[in-house]
Amino acid sequence: MPAREYDGSRCGQQAWWQQAVVYQIAPMSFQDSDGDGKGDLRGLIDRLPYLEWLGIDAVWLCPIYPSPMLDFGYDISDYCDVDPLFGTLGIFDELMTKLHARGIRLLLDFVPNHSSAQHPWFVESCASRASKKRDWYVWADPGRDGGPPNNWLSRFGGSAWQWHEGSGQYYYHAFLCEQPDLNWRNRAVRDAMADIIRFWLSRGVDGFRVDASAVLIEDELLRDDPPDPEFDPKTTPPPQRLARRFTDDRPECMGCLEELRAVLDEFPDRVLAGEVQGEVDRIGHFYGNDRPRFHLPLNFALLDCEWSALAVQATIDGYLNAIPAHAWPDWVVGGHDKPRIAGKIGQAQARILAMLLLTLKGTPFFFAGDEIGMPGVHIPKTAVQDVFEKLVPGYGLNRDPERSPMRWDGSPKGGFTSGKPWLPMGDDVVERNVLRQQKDTRSLLSLYRSLIALRKQEPALRSGDYLPLRACNDVLLFKRLTAAETLLIALNFSSEPRRLDVEKPARVLISTHLDRAAAKLRPMLRGNEGFVLKLNG
Ligand code: GLC
Ligand code: MG
Repeated sequence: MPAREYDGSRCGQQAWWQQAVVYQIAPMSFQDSDGDGKGDLRGLIDRLPYLEWLGIDAVWLCPIYPSPMLDFGYDISDYCDVDPLFGTLGIFDELMTKLHARGIRLLLDFVPNHSSAQHPWFVESCASRASKKRDWYVWADPGRDGGPPNNWLSRFGGSAWQWHEGSGQYYYHAFLCEQPDLNWRNRAVRDAMADIIRFWLSRGVDGFRVDASAVLIEDELLRDDPPDPEFDPKTTPPPQRLARRFTDDRPECMGCLEELRAVLDEFPDRVLAGEVQGEVDRIGHFYGNDRPRFHLPLNFALLDCEWSALAVQATIDGYLNAIPAHAWPDWVVGGHDKPRIAGKIGQAQARILAMLLLTLKGTPFFFAGDEIGMPGVHIPKTAVQDVFEKLVPGYGLNRDPERSPMRWDGSPKGGFTSGKPWLPMGDDVVERNVLRQQKDTRSLLSLYRSLIALRKQEPALRSGDYLPLRACNDVLLFKRLTAAETLLIALNFSSEPRRLDVEKPARVLISTHLDRAAAKLRPMLRGNEGFVLKLNG
């Protein structure tokens, strides 16, 4: 693949997804319109003015398809429709048209690895060993001892093999046993999945985030996974005690991703982002070699790293080193599977994170609620919804805290619903909500909005080169440059003031504090303060 296909900025022209700020929405937790306590597409439509006000360019929507909802909609029983909980295809079309009318693109979540056990394909596959769809899923005979075929573990606990009495074989499930893995070695499965992508692309969606993309194909010999050498019996959750050598990131999987990409490329100007598993040094190959794979393999490094200037500097460098020279970077700071970053680093540093996210080179992704600093909400044991926590309790794996509904105002139900919210709203709704932060010109929300606007204004932030400087004394420093201008970004990771030496005359474009003193260049950064400076001459 020609290098310039990766990085449009090098040939003077960027693709929309390189310029875009992407906002992830879990529809169940965004806005309810019908009082059932769960968000829906009509509710989302009602909130479009907010999205435009915030300035985001694209929405990535978590699954909206018909589903028994055992895993937040990631267990799909029909890939080409909308679950009645969320609305109808008609309302979906209305949502897409209205987003587009506001200049906002739409990415859907595409879940190719598994369907719901209630999908007609799986029902047919189970019917008998002679069924035409038998080979659409991954079936195997018992192992020598009569138990599961090998030691593979489900991510959600226990063996990854489920015995099917009726047809006398085991089937494989990387996640819940109600989420059987599709057999990507089967041509007919690949073709069916390609048609699903075409269905949505023809309808007008601008691309996809591909779920669990690295686990599409497992080892054909069904070899046992070895123990993970880093496993600690006290702290490692049981499903994570094996190194997933034979189930994850197999070479055959890459061919599937190349095929998906080729289908996407039948349509002009679309984007493929992918959830890729594994350490940062595995990210590079998801961009593709001779044939392209993802435009944007999602990068969670900032979420996972220790929060200090030195550690973040090393994380940024490590990631940029791990992707091909002309690959376009991306940065994700929140998501429906990840503990809320504000809970980890605190509200003051959440402002530093916002500035970092929106000034780094690459496409920024954040999750609805991150822009108001939503912390992980406390979930009493009796209110737990997430299957992960139910099946592997006690290891802090619960994903409900980050899935707590969006708070639009300070009322007890946060303006999210007139009914009973499906998860607790949190006890800080009065202090932390959209309305309150919209009125406060110095809020985190105002900061996100100002930074997004600044990114639109300054070509150096969207497409300029990235030049690291040496972090010291808790201050992370880097430049973004075009031929015409140089911006310096300085971020103070400490709560104490820190010296800032600027070699040239400079102008403050924005401070994370958004106050009057912020407009003045000082030889000091205040505690928890970040600057974007324009260097003159
Ligand atoms: C992905 C999703 C996660 C889901 C899993 C199974 O990791 O992000 O929420 O549980 O896939 O589909
Ligand atoms: Mg509803």
